[in-house]
Amino acid sequence: MSPTRTHFSPLARLLHWTMAPLIIAMLFIGAGMVATVSRAHDTLIAIHRPLGIALLLLVALRAGTRITRGSPPLPDDMPAPQRFAAKASHLLLYVLMAAMPLIGWAMLSAAGYPVTLYGPLHLPPIAPQNVELFALLRALHTWLAFALFATVLLHLAAALFHGLIRRDGVFSSMARGER
Ligand code: HEM
Ligand code: HEM
Repeated sequence: MSPTRTHFSPLARLLHWTMAPLIIAMLFIGAGMVATVSRAHDTLIAIHRPLGIALLLLVALRAGTRITRGSPPLPDDMPAPQRFAAKASHLLLYVLMAAMPLIGWAMLSAAGYPVTLYGPLHLPPIAPQNVELFALLRALHTWLAFALFATVLLHLAAALFHGLIRRDGVFSSMARGER
C-alpha cells in the first residue's frame, strides 16, 4: 500500500468485516455450549469446530494481506500513547485470533478426540495425547477467550471514540473505501 493511502484495501476490509461477526459469534457459541448439557451442546460444537478452523484460514490470509499491503498511517496529531495502544491492541487481536483456533485444535488432539469438520472430514492431531496437556490447553482456551472478548470491547470503544469524538478518519479507513 502506498504511503498516501488513507483507507484499508478492499480485501483487508472484506476480511475485517467478515471475521468480526464470526469471532463474536464464536465467543457466544463457545460460552453457550459449555453452559448446556442438552442436545444443543452437540449442535453448537458441530458449528464451533469447523467455524473456528475457517477463522484460522482467514486470519492466515489476513496476516499475509497485512504484511504485504500494510495499513494506512494513523493521523499525525494522534498522541504517542494512543498510537502505541492502537498498534499493541491490533497485534494482540491478531495473536488471539490465531491462538484461539490453534489451541482448540491442539486441546482436542491432546484429549485424543478427532477434530471432525464435516461428515467424514477430519483434521490430523497437532499435539501428543496427554491428559495434563489437555487440562492446560482447555484452561488456556477459556482464559484467552476472556482476553479476546475484553480486547474486542476495548477495540469497539476505540473505534467509536475515533468515529464519534475525534472524527479523524480512522473509523472510515476501515468502514468504507476511498472516494
Ligand atoms: C476464533 C476461534 C475460537 C473461539 C473465539 C473460541 C471460543 C470458545 C469459548 C468462549 C469457549 C467456552 C470456554 C469456557 O467457557 O470454558 C470454547 C470452548 C471450546 N472450544 Fe473453542 N473457540 C475457538 C476455536 C475453537 C476450535 C478451532 C476448536 C476445535 C477444533 C474449539 C474447540 C472447543 C471445545 C472442544 C470447547 C469446549 C467444549 C465443552 O467443554 O463442551 N474451539 N471456545
Ligand atoms: C471481533 C471483532 C473485531 C476484531 C477481531 C477486529 C480486529 C481488528 C484488527 C486486527 C485491526 C487492525 C487492522 C490492521 O492493522 O491490519 C482492526 C482495525 C479496525 N477496526 Fe476492528 N475488529 C473487530 C471489530 C470491529 C468493530 C465492531 C469496529 C467498529 C465499530 C471496528 C473498527 C475498526 C477500525 C475503524 C479499524 C481501523 C483502525 C486503524 O486505522 O488502525 N472493528 N480491527
